[in-house]
Amino acid sequence: MVLRCQPVADAVESVKRRGTEDRKDSGRKVSVRTILLSPAGTVYDQKKARELAAQDHLILICGHYEGFDARIYSWADELVSVGDYILTGGELPAMTVADSVLRLLEGNLKEGGAGEESFENGLLEYPQYTKPAEFRGQKVPEVLLSGDHEAVRKWRLEAALKETMERRPDLLEGRKFTEEEKALLGEMENQQDSREQHQ
Ligand SMILES: C[S@@+](CC[C@H](N)C(=O)[O-])C[C@H]1O[C@@H](n2cnc3c(N)ncnc32)[C@H](O)[C@@H]1O
Repeated sequence: MVLRCQPVADAVESVKRRGTEDRKDSGRKVSVRTILLSPAGTVYDQKKARELAAQDHLILICGHYEGFDARIYSWADELVSVGDYILTGGELPAMTVADSVLRLLEGNLKEGGAGEESFENGLLEYPQYTKPAEFRGQKVPEVLLSGDHEAVRKWRLEAALKETMERRPDLLEGRKFTEEEKALLGEMENQQDSREQHQ
């Protein structure tokens, strides 16, 4: 079974009309982005979430069954995939896009709250800890209890670099490292060399 043109055209046109009417009093041009969820799309990431969060309206077209009549693809501004696997329908991909966009909208996070999260600065987030300072022999790193904000900031940057190198080295390909990051990477390499020499 393949989704036919008419019902999808009716749905998209109706949503577009409503979106434009909602905002027509504001006097400014309303931006609407139409996304079709498809395994053939560009793989979704945080950069795209930020781009979509800047739109006034998003229309998310979900497929089901075998997918869409090929003519429907041309009505979308772009195709978006949530990864290289096949789901039964586009509902979960649409919820993924909606959730990641909605949390970026004003009022949902504290000022600058998203800034240090994974992918926002091209790195994974540094490890986080809670109380107590020691649990079943595992300790919170000493520096995080020191109250020295500069030392904590440096530890977090180093930990984020390390985490990214270990778990997602692909994220670092083509990255323009800052001077501080280069220095931290140099220190990490030296530590690694001296560990290997002592083994
Ligand atoms: C079973 S899939 C259709 C797969 C299609 N026949 C193919 O081989 O590419 C049904 C619908 O689920 C959605 N879907 C499935 N996997 C997806 C993914 N990885 N990303 C985005 N949407 C997906 C799409 O809307 C798709 O039209």
